[in-house]
Amino acid sequence: MRQAGRSLPEYRRLRAGRPMLEACLDPGLAAEITLQPVRRHGVDAAVLFSDIMVPLLLAGVAVRIVEGVGPVLDSPVRSAREVEALTAGTAGITDAAEAADAADTANAAGPGGHARSRGSEPASTGILSQAALEPIAQAVRRVVAELGTPRQPGEHEHLSPRARAGLEHSAGEAGWTPVIGFGGAPFTLAAYMVEGRPSRDHLAARTLMHSDPRSWDRLMTWCAQLTGSFMAAQVHAGASAAQLFDSWAGSLSPTDYRERVQPYSALALSIAGQALSPTTGTRPPLIHFGTGTALLLADMRQGADAVGIDERIGLRQAADLLAACPGGACPVQGNIDPALLAAPEPVLARAVQECLEAGRSAPGHVANLGHGVPPTTSPDVLTRIVAQVHGSESWQATARAGWDAPQEAH
Ligand code: CP3
Repeated sequence: MRQAGRSLPEYRRLRAGRPMLEACLDPGLAAEITLQPVRRHGVDAAVLFSDIMVPLLLAGVAVRIVEGVGPVLDSPVRSAREVEALTAGTAGITDAAEAADAADTANAAGPGGHARSRGSEPASTGILSQAALEPIAQAVRRVVAELGTPRQPGEHEHLSPRARAGLEHSAGEAGWTPVIGFGGAPFTLAAYMVEGRPSRDHLAARTLMHSDPRSWDRLMTWCAQLTGSFMAAQVHAGASAAQLFDSWAGSLSPTDYRERVQPYSALALSIAGQALSPTTGTRPPLIHFGTGTALLLADMRQGADAVGIDERIGLRQAADLLAACPGGACPVQGNIDPALLAAPEPVLARAVQECLEAGRSAPGHVANLGHGVPPTTSPDVLTRIVAQVHGSESWQATARAGWDAPQEAH
């Protein structure tokens, strides 16, 4: 989950004095930060250190991440003219579908002619060049080189024994650790772009959505192509799976979500899903996560292989809702309440146990938090959760000893 790393002292040391988005564009630094939680916690996968705002920056949008605030844009995109200037050369889904319909009609779709469905194909996905995406691809390749192949003896000799133990535990029986890429869903990106900064209710974005559907369509299509190509670049470089984060989808009614947001998330997912991962030789499984989405799960499931669940709904209830929807049951991810990370140990341990039991009602379960790690979290608490989820006694002993314990203890 987001910002898992920022509770780590070794992360804060590396990041000191470097603006967040600048750090994301430094492949060596981004790769090293990506590896830190794997070495320490022994988690089953590495999540690329990057941010959902990175592709906006790469596309030339003046955006920065202000500590304690979040993403801030110098010039929000609000009017039809501002949307037009940003998306010049990009057709919206509606435009593209109309052009396709018009072409079909012009071709006198006689016998054998068929109407194309709306919202199916993007006009183009080329907002970001390969060159612009290269720092991201390079970071992924470096992480994959460390994690993505069976380890060679002596490969990690420069690391402490404890860090090597973490990598080994992470690799498990498979002998390697996958990297998960990600991107922000079009609505979450558009909400930041229209508001210019974090907002509780996304009023300006929702106003644009209703008052100027044509501009909304253009902006959302642009965001979908942008984030889709950001995720596809990570997969092409070796990420094994990808996750789409719709952090603000929960501020929408189910109807607005279905009609004015879901088609664009599906577009982003389909762009990411077309990329082949050289690590696995397959297209990536896609996880779709949002917060406050209990009423949106059936729609979020479309185009995704697994659905991320936040802590505001029971995991079993979410799995049941998904099982009853047209796509049918699917793996779930979640949903330990981040608030419990600071609770007494038995309270947290019980919640982890309940989460694991609830996850068994789905065809697969990625044990995870319901949302991001609070920066004040004790890292040892996170290692203990991993040990509990894995049911490994030796890793539990390591987790109990803590990261700073004398090396001989391991
Ligand atoms: O866990 C990880 O480190 C994985 C990489 C990751 C980051 N951001 C790094 C990051 C991921 C998956 C994200 C996603 C992200 N970024 C989302 C979607 C998921 C979610 O949590 O809802 C959103 C909305 C953002 C935008 C963003 N970036 C916010 C709101 C913030 C917090 C700003 C603050 O200080 O309160 C960030 C900064 C950010 N992104 C940090 C990290 C490690 C923290 C930077 C720091 O403080 O050092």
